[in-house]
Amino acid sequence: MVVGIIGSGSMGAGIAQVAATSGCKVLLYDQSENATDLAMQKLRKILARLVEKGKIDEAELNRILSNIDVIHQLEQMNQSSLIIEAIIEDTSIKKTLFIALEAIVDSKCIIATNTSSLSVTNLASALNDPSRFIGLHFFNPAPLMPLVEIIPALQTNSSLVNDMLDLMKQWDKCPVVAKDTPGFIVNRIARPFYGEALRIYEEGIADFNVIDQAMKEIGGFRMGPFELMDFIGNDINYAVTKSVFEAFYYDPRYKPSFTQKQHAEAGWLGRKSGRGYYDYTETNESRVNLDPELGNAVFDRILVMLVNEAVDALYLDIASENDIEIAMTKGVNYPKGLIAWGKEKGFDWCLKEMDLLYETYHEDRYRCSPLIRRWGS
Ligand code: NAI
Repeated sequence: MVVGIIGSGSMGAGIAQVAATSGCKVLLYDQSENATDLAMQKLRKILARLVEKGKIDEAELNRILSNIDVIHQLEQMNQSSLIIEAIIEDTSIKKTLFIALEAIVDSKCIIATNTSSLSVTNLASALNDPSRFIGLHFFNPAPLMPLVEIIPALQTNSSLVNDMLDLMKQWDKCPVVAKDTPGFIVNRIARPFYGEALRIYEEGIADFNVIDQAMKEIGGFRMGPFELMDFIGNDINYAVTKSVFEAFYYDPRYKPSFTQKQHAEAGWLGRKSGRGYYDYTETNESRVNLDPELGNAVFDRILVMLVNEAVDALYLDIASENDIEIAMTKGVNYPKGLIAWGKEKGFDWCLKEMDLLYETYHEDRYRCSPLIRRWGS
């Protein structure tokens, strides 16, 4: 199978590695030759490190590299049977590319987008034959993160979903199917992990490090929300939150936070700028002795908001229960599936906690999912 990959930045290069490793012939294209040079250099380094660690041998390294051809003309994509687009996150630039591609490839070629926030249905509409178009959302870094969200557009031929499920399994990935709605599964359900943590901080209930420690020590999350936002970058995380909020017609559940906006504006982006919620130029640890009562209150509030979001996604048929659980454990490494976590805590408990938040604030942000109300009553 010949797979064309357009855009050789972090995602395109990673997807190229995955496809080439699984035995596909990859054509890698970027509008910048410098970007493809860098991508190939980086890939050689990654593979050499795998050889050093004994994970692959020299022959495997050569096999993977020989499966990738860098091309410099979009027209050379004509041999592809699947094209995955991973260029800049801009609707009109992506649509212009799809129109150009449709004139090059044959009528059976599948065209996929790796967009993380744009409407797949809107992107599909650029094509004369939108039934061949689908979303394939990989996570960063693509060779390491097992999850792939498969997102059919409204116009997508339904048999394509099964074809992509099979192909992603062949690529050793964990595919799930998501409805084409803002944030798909992971970027929708994960919003309260950041948003509720920021809200708790803004209300003066607890500081960054207390909230982070509660989520790690009590919840078993690998990183606390503030550490994770600093890792992702406050500029990027704020932009995703803002775009999900706008795409949901300003549903208060997804409202961005002034605290994060200001951190982004100040250039306190996180690890990459040396300072975010924490100062990374200092080496001293900011661990505190977690007060159990405060820690549990913080953790419970964030957890119940996450469970509410996951159950509501199920209620709205964004994905199956199994896929929702896989998405959060394989896409963002949550220690447990959120619906299973809700069951463990008891949906009567979830209902009580959500209603208590609603009674306290009288904000639509804290409305309980009808499905939690049904399960918990
Ligand atoms: P990036 O900025 O690292 O790479 C984008 C590449 O596309 C650049 O090398 C650029 O030269 C090239 N490019 C831009 N316009 C082009 C065009 N018209 N034709 C050909 N090449 C073009 O971006 P990244 O992070 O790899 O993201 C790519 C896509 O993947 C975006 O849609 C993004 O939303 C999505 N995505 C990103 C994730 C991430 O964590 N970075 C995760 C999942 C999806």
